[in-house]
Amino acid sequence: MNLIKLNAIDSTNTYLKRLAKETYQEDKTVVVAESQLSGRGQMGNGWLSREGQSLTFSVLKRFEALDVEKQFMISMAVSLGISEAIKALQIPNIAIKWPNDILSAKKKIGGILIENILEGSNVKYSVIGIGINVNETDFPALPQASSFKLETGKTFQLAEVLQLLLKTIFKNLENLSAKDFLELKTHYEKDLFRRDVVSFFEKNNGLGFNGIIKGISDSGELLVEIENNSLQKFQLKEVKLIY
Ligand code: BTN
Repeated sequence: MNLIKLNAIDSTNTYLKRLAKETYQEDKTVVVAESQLSGRGQMGNGWLSREGQSLTFSVLKRFEALDVEKQFMISMAVSLGISEAIKALQIPNIAIKWPNDILSAKKKIGGILIENILEGSNVKYSVIGIGINVNETDFPALPQASSFKLETGKTFQLAEVLQLLLKTIFKNLENLSAKDFLELKTHYEKDLFRRDVVSFFEKNNGLGFNGIIKGISDSGELLVEIENNSLQKFQLKEVKLIY
């Protein structure tokens, strides 16, 4: 593993992607920053964190013949790796909100931004950006955000948390292309937030509806049971779970 530590950077994902484009970066290269000036989240959102209080890092993972159709395996493996580490730290009530938000007691404590670099129909490597709210206690205008400290009352050593996270994330990503999609999916669905209970959703056209999360499809779409027991698949931009 190659660990690059930075004081401040726009975004560790942008930095690591640029670096890997310019010069070959070995498998498991990690970039961690004390502060991000322009952290990026999913769907063009930003990611805010206070200097030295939380973890913002990106890892580069190379794959052997991982078909792009199976790319959701990366998302599942990373989410499960993170939740494994966080559970070991005794952070309560961990769940994964599809596709890859990490929740503690229904509040978001971690987010993942995966950017895949393709070669033909394979994922050559991924730059996986991870933000974990560790010792932060103030989330202005983000009522659904939380942190390790808010959930446990304890302060954590960032370097120790990072080492544990890297261990479980890389363990889960090892030999991913040889792993069984269904086995990983079963494991992921066990931790899926609001599975098998009635939830309220909003479509991107603003219409609301009730449905029950049943799991995910083979390409990682959310499977929701709606009226008449029919199952609908949704992609990330199509639907929002209201909770
Ligand atoms: C999300 O939940 O929207 C994903 C958030 C991902 C944030 C991390 S912080 C480290 C890495 N660098 C970035 O700019 N974003 C990711």
